Amino acid sequence: MNDTHLLVLATGGTIAGMAGSALRHDYRPGQIDIADYLSQVGELGLDARLVGRQIASIGSEDMDAAVWNPLHAAIHEALDDPACAGVIVTHGTDTAEETALLLDLTLPAAKPVVLVGAMRPADAVGYDGLRNFANAVRVAGDAGAAGRGVLVVMGDRVFAARDVRKARTRGTDAFRGFPRDAIGLVTPSALDWFGAPWRTGEGAAWRWHDALPEVPILYVHAGMNADTATRLVGPETRGLIVAGVGEGNMPDPLRRALVILREGGIVVVRSSRLDEGLVDREPEDDANGFVAARALNPQKARILLQVLLANGVRDVAEIQTAFDRR
Ligand code: SIN
Repeated sequence: MNDTHLLVLATGGTIAGMAGSALRHDYRPGQIDIADYLSQVGELGLDARLVGRQIASIGSEDMDAAVWNPLHAAIHEALDDPACAGVIVTHGTDTAEETALLLDLTLPAAKPVVLVGAMRPADAVGYDGLRNFANAVRVAGDAGAAGRGVLVVMGDRVFAARDVRKARTRGTDAFRGFPRDAIGLVTPSALDWFGAPWRTGEGAAWRWHDALPEVPILYVHAGMNADTATRLVGPETRGLIVAGVGEGNMPDPLRRALVILREGGIVVVRSSRLDEGLVDREPEDDANGFVAARALNPQKARILLQVLLANGVRDVAEIQTAFDRR
């Protein structure tokens, strides 16, 4: 018997959320367990055998190592299982981009791994979750999805982990990609890729670590006091992401405070607080000892820096190279 299947790992989120009324704005994420969800999905008649497993039932604002560790272990096991053709992770939309990048950095790209969510709870008028899920099944079951790293499927579009970001708080078209927009278009019955896979034959870029170092994000604003930086840093802090204005800029007193933190061993990465912020390395970064985040937004720059530090990468030039390659 052919037991090829897609593994569905559920973590909660709005895709499994319930409001208790079709019209209510407020709702509770992670209310439907994966067995019940897959029995609803069964009625769609999708051409795939789906095996479900509940990892957590949280709103993704609570996503952290307590969920990431068993999630990563379950995906790793599934990727080694010849019967498993791909993995779907149901996830809240708020931090899906962070989980996607973390998994992308630490998993091989040989089989599809697809994150999917919804903007409306399951009992709302116009629930988008079932369509997004059917699209995710199409992507995860497609041989052409392998070699593209971890993917996010939302609103009939497929995004790569590096690019994807949640851009709106409302509407089913809430995600987009930067600097590259969607890499594919999907419906339950069709899938079109833009371009070829780029990670063929690649293993995981970095080793998984159960505990990631403390790396806060410093959000820069007009009238900022340099002390805010030093107040953010504790004895366990190993790095700091600056969500700078414009192209990662900051007031000079803050820059000087960060240089002192850098001299004390804290890795400082300059990113941008803008939606489409691209921060290139500048000659001043050499003098300051800072890293430029390039196209990663602050929350993704944080994930990359945490993974690098956990893997023992401390040298600023090596860290910059890792950011340049993303
Ligand atoms: C969450 O991220 O868990 C809540 C929001 C959502 O899933 O859309």
